[in-house]
Amino acid sequence: MKNCFGILLALIAIIHIVRAQDQQGFISLDCGLPANELSPYEETFTGLRFSSDEKFIRSGKTGKIRENPEGYAKPYETLRYFPDGIRNCYNLNVEKGSTYLIVARFVYGNYDGFDLKPKFDLYLGPNLWATVDLQILVNGTAEDILHVPTSNSLQICLVKTGETTPLISALELRPMGNDSYITQSGSLILFSRRYLSKSGSDLRYNKDVYDRIWVSYGARFQTEWTQISTTLEVNNANKYAPPKDALKNAATPTNAGSPLTIKWPSGSPQDQYYLYAHFAEIENLQANDTREFNILLNGEVFSEPIIPKKLDITTIQSLTSTTCQEGECILQLTRTNRSTLPPLLNALEIYAVIQFPQAETNEIDVVAIKNIQATYGLNRINWQGDPCVPQQLIWDGLNCSNTNISTPPRIISLNLSSSGLTGNIAAAIQNLTQLEKLDLSNNNLTGVVPEFLGNMKSLSVINLSGNNLNGLIPQALRKEGLELLVEGNPRLCLSDSCRKPSKKKFPVAIVAAVASAAIVIAVLIFFIVLRKRKSTTVEGLHLTPRLSTSTSTENVTFANKKSKRFKYSEVLKMTNNFQRVLGKGGFGMVYHGTVNGAVQVAVKVLSQSSTQGYKEFKAEVDLLLRVHHTNLVSLVGYCYEGDHLGLIYEFLPNGDLKQHLSGKGGKSIINWSIRLQIALDAALGLEYLHIGCTPPMVHRDIKTANILLDKNFKAKVADFGLSRSFRVGGESYDSTLIVGTPGYLDPEYYPTSRLAAKSDVYSYGIVLLEMITNQPVISEKYHIAEWVRSKLNRGDITEIMDPNLHGVYDFNSAWRALELAMSCADPSSSKRPTMSQVINALEECIVCENSRMSKNPGFESQDMNISLDTSVVPRAR
Ligand SMILES: *[C@@H]1O[C@H](CO)[C@@H](O)[C@H](O)[C@H]1NC(C)=O
Ligand SMILES: *[C@@H]1O[C@H](CO)[C@@H](O)[C@H](O)[C@H]1NC(C)=O
Ligand SMILES: *[C@@H]1O[C@H](CO)[C@@H](O)[C@H](O)[C@H]1NC(C)=O
Ligand SMILES: *[C@@H]1O[C@H](CO)[C@@H](O)[C@H](O)[C@H]1NC(C)=O
Ligand SMILES: *[C@@H]1O[C@H](CO)[C@@H](O)[C@H](O)[C@H]1NC(C)=O
Ligand SMILES: *[C@@H]1O[C@H](CO)[C@@H](O)[C@H](O)[C@H]1NC(C)=O
Ligand SMILES: *[C@@H]1O[C@H](CO)[C@@H](O)[C@H](O)[C@H]1NC(C)=O
Ligand SMILES: *[C@@H]1O[C@H](CO)[C@@H](O)[C@H](O)[C@H]1NC(C)=O
Ligand SMILES: *[C@@H]1O[C@H](CO)[C@@H](O)[C@H](O)[C@H]1NC(C)=O
Ligand SMILES: *[C@@H]1O[C@H](CO)[C@@H](O)[C@H](O)[C@H]1NC(C)=O
Repeated sequence: MKNCFGILLALIAIIHIVRAQDQQGFISLDCGLPANELSPYEETFTGLRFSSDEKFIRSGKTGKIRENPEGYAKPYETLRYFPDGIRNCYNLNVEKGSTYLIVARFVYGNYDGFDLKPKFDLYLGPNLWATVDLQILVNGTAEDILHVPTSNSLQICLVKTGETTPLISALELRPMGNDSYITQSGSLILFSRRYLSKSGSDLRYNKDVYDRIWVSYGARFQTEWTQISTTLEVNNANKYAPPKDALKNAATPTNAGSPLTIKWPSGSPQDQYYLYAHFAEIENLQANDTREFNILLNGEVFSEPIIPKKLDITTIQSLTSTTCQEGECILQLTRTNRSTLPPLLNALEIYAVIQFPQAETNEIDVVAIKNIQATYGLNRINWQGDPCVPQQLIWDGLNCSNTNISTPPRIISLNLSSSGLTGNIAAAIQNLTQLEKLDLSNNNLTGVVPEFLGNMKSLSVINLSGNNLNGLIPQALRKEGLELLVEGNPRLCLSDSCRKPSKKKFPVAIVAAVASAAIVIAVLIFFIVLRKRKSTTVEGLHLTPRLSTSTSTENVTFANKKSKRFKYSEVLKMTNNFQRVLGKGGFGMVYHGTVNGAVQVAVKVLSQSSTQGYKEFKAEVDLLLRVHHTNLVSLVGYCYEGDHLGLIYEFLPNGDLKQHLSGKGGKSIINWSIRLQIALDAALGLEYLHIGCTPPMVHRDIKTANILLDKNFKAKVADFGLSRSFRVGGESYDSTLIVGTPGYLDPEYYPTSRLAAKSDVYSYGIVLLEMITNQPVISEKYHIAEWVRSKLNRGDITEIMDPNLHGVYDFNSAWRALELAMSCADPSSSKRPTMSQVINALEECIVCENSRMSKNPGFESQDMNISLDTSVVPRAR
């Protein structure tokens, strides 16, 4: 019947070229169309926007038809065929509970040149929808169904049933809302969709807002039927909304006394049908005229007598399914006694019920297994469609519970042994809540064994053998009834003895605290002694510059620093007229210079528009000149002459840390052990500023660009004390102004406007994160700390570490450094360690790293030999 009605396949002969409009929710896929070629395009006859199917299927190959005797439209020219795998599926996003018109179209067109027409099955999820037999329907066919998806993803699968290769030409989905074509059970396969007109073209989008195809039904008009039509507009507004053009025509029996009869053959007495008949009065009735008729189906009343409304639709719908005896269904419209006119019929839809009894696999399981598939990039041809059902097509490596056909199956075992998995154990596994067996053995999985595995109630066997997991096995997995196999993971800790410091809290043992307290005391004593000694031997140093307001004091200090003062002409000479630029700092340009033709210096020329007076400048310089520490860049002298302000520093030939991390300017990438040493050097310099010098100082602009390296890669902190009063671009001195560099700036600084030593610790933490990860401090998406936090959840340090390190570092030292950096960068200043605590922790990292290197002698030939300096007391020179 489907054939003799000759429905579908008919993109032809739609008259108007309509504009694509309001194709809301339509999915129109031209299968096999390359995504880059003309996708999407507007189909000529319908104005429908067709696009490539590439995004909706992972398998299959594309072909082009060679023969086109029917003159098929563009969507049929390309096709996708499936030489590999048994089941290949399209995966479409739909709205669960809504009715969809789904149409799949198939045209062979001898695309492969073998003239071998295929026969295969079409599935909706786990259920057979249709058998597509192009050996009989040689010119192609289409399957058309009204279906309510039971989940938000719809799988349309082509299943190989013999030797031939399945193919598909076009796939179309039209959402129809949820209030029409309601069945008691099952979906509706199109049997016939007709409008009653002697002749006429097929009606499709956009005549039909849902893109149903209506075929004119002309055969019986010769004798039995008479056509009536109108040119007036007919209202089609109800939930079925057949095309207005369909309603403009109707059939009436030629013999006005006879019923209007439609018959169709029914394959078996079990076949069930749903009918939708559409009526509208399109004749101009006289006042004494009535058109009233009964509708009988198989001789039984299908509906109360109806009187079609003038130029307005009435739809009579099946509320339950109908079966037909004796191989035939009969629909009759019979006029009532009082009717003066014969019955009429404008349009009729007949659908056959198809049951989809097999429940789809539990939706949460499906989402989880697809997530796992995506995480590991598993490209198994068999992993398509429903994971568990039908049973003969179950995904490799799965086993499912199939209680009965109407209960959604659950995944109960997952075997991804020897599947080349890399990365962490996927978090999505925890959503497979009924999982009993998990086999991930013989892969290259890294990271830690996640705790959630211990919380999965049904899980009784976990095989993680032969991977590269590390860390400690969580307590939750050491329980009765759980068999855990982990052999062949050399870096995995099997006992508590190798427990690494907990991640959240900064691990400062009481011992360390005591030690640092002792250091503080030692420092204080040291400096009291130093100051005493100096103040008795060196004039003028007993007053801090900030307090030196009296001219006499100023004169005294000035006089004593005279030797450090350079004339502008000397500056010109030493820099050879500012010939070689070293860089641009926050406070001005930096030039290379030479003093006495031998000592190299860096000359920082300060902004001339600085409103600062000589007195303040002098005070600052005085202070800086007194700060001496092997890890602070020392100030050699200064220049103050009219508008010319300059600071002359010792020169560090290896540039700054930033360059060495980025590899910019031809700088070498430094290895992990040197990074740790640099971190320690910088920490020592900062600690000195915080507690070692008088008055204590806050750097306020710690960043990688401010950590300079000497020829032995010893690090020295630069630009300290400057932000205190030297400004860029003539801003006036104001301690409440925000200083520092975005990304490095303490988040607590904004609310409180106070910069304390802990703000430097924050910035230092960011520097440390940069040294560990080599990620940008601020990218479009993330701050570096957020980036690390997001990666930390996955527990794999190799993803966090700078790839330039090529994995050459001790994992323990890397973890510790990372924990340290994260505790420094804690948003809450009270949770950050002091610089002294930082130094303790870094020393531990260095010990770990050194022990790794001693175990692998000669492994890194470029390694510098790090001798750990155990005296962490800030040193004055
Ligand atoms: C297929 O198309 C050809 C040419 O249009 C026609 O002669 C033939 O009858 C068609 N076959 C079927 C089964 O429709
Ligand atoms: C149909 O959908 C609407 C909203 O989209 C919802 O409120 C209504 O309950 C649904 N009706 C049925 C029968 O599912
Ligand atoms: C209805 O009225 C028209 C005139 O208005 C008349 O010609 C016709 O015969 C009447 N039909 C019937 C059935 O009474
Ligand atoms: C209609 O006419 C038939 C006979 O032609 C009669 O049996 C039936 O009772 C009538 N129905 C009504 C409602 O008058
Ligand atoms: C799958 O599980 C069932 C029990 O649920 C078991 O009988 C069957 O052997 C299992 N199949 C495989 C391949 O493990
Ligand atoms: C399937 O199982 C459910 C509950 O386990 C039960 O309610 C239902 O009747 C069963 N259906 C069939 C067809 O056995
Ligand atoms: C997983 O599959 C491999 C073969 O692919 C098999 O050797 C192994 O026993 C399976 N594991 C489980 C738990 O069934
Ligand atoms: C587990 O499933 C829930 C609900 O479907 C989802 O919100 C959550 O993100 C899933 N978890 C993982 C780790 O995929
Ligand atoms: C792990 O990866 C390495 C290379 O990265 C490879 O040589 C090895 O075969 C992989 N092991 C497994 C079990 O897949
Ligand atoms: C776990 O995996 C290893 C490696 O594939 C295998 O030798 C061992 O038999 C597995 N154990 C179980 C219980 O499946």
